[in-house]
Amino acid sequence: MTENIYPVFDRIYDRKVKEEILRQSAKVIWFTGLSGSGKTTLASNLEKDLFFHRFFCQVLDGDNIRTGINNNLGFSEEDRLENIRRISEVSKLLINTGMITICSFISPTNEIRNLARNIIGEEDFIEIFLNTPLAVCEDRDVKGLYKRARAGEIKDFTGISSPFEAPKNPDVEIDTSVTGIKESVDIIFNAIIDRITL
Ligand code: ADX
Repeated sequence: MTENIYPVFDRIYDRKVKEEILRQSAKVIWFTGLSGSGKTTLASNLEKDLFFHRFFCQVLDGDNIRTGINNNLGFSEEDRLENIRRISEVSKLLINTGMITICSFISPTNEIRNLARNIIGEEDFIEIFLNTPLAVCEDRDVKGLYKRARAGEIKDFTGISSPFEAPKNPDVEIDTSVTGIKESVDIIFNAIIDRITL
């Protein structure tokens, strides 16, 4: 498939130059967790906090990406893998611009997260696991999707009719039913600050 393709990576300005201009070390901050676990809320609050501290960043979020670049994908295992493969390639392009990239996707299995980690590169991948119990996510039911999944109206729904595997060794783990928004963002900020500072 890569026949007759001639990548020009070696002719594009080096990532290091861009990181120096931005005075930051680009990383992907990868949020994983059930729907309703707090990914979108913490990702957007973390972005705000990083901007306040003069870091340049971009959030990529499940619902946004799935209405655009990935609007032809559903929630089968195969489609979720392709969803995350494309997102990981986009994230890699973004970190090559020096951008701190905050990803907020359920990314439910070890296989899916390993794919992301391999594409992005171990060095640049920081995993944040929102370990909020299913019962709490379901109780929140911000989008009303759990109710519909329980009623059988949505198939392959993560946590109900599709698996979620807890990551084995995340960089940060937070249960948002016991840790509030500000405290959670502070924990993440403190965990990543050394790695994003040049
Ligand atoms: S992932 O599994 O492929 O990583 P992603 O984060 O992009 O999922 O999208 C999850 C969002 O899609 C959820 O927050 C929810 O709003 C919506 N959604 C719709 N159908 C499903 C489903 N069957 N399972 C999980 N989320 C769903």
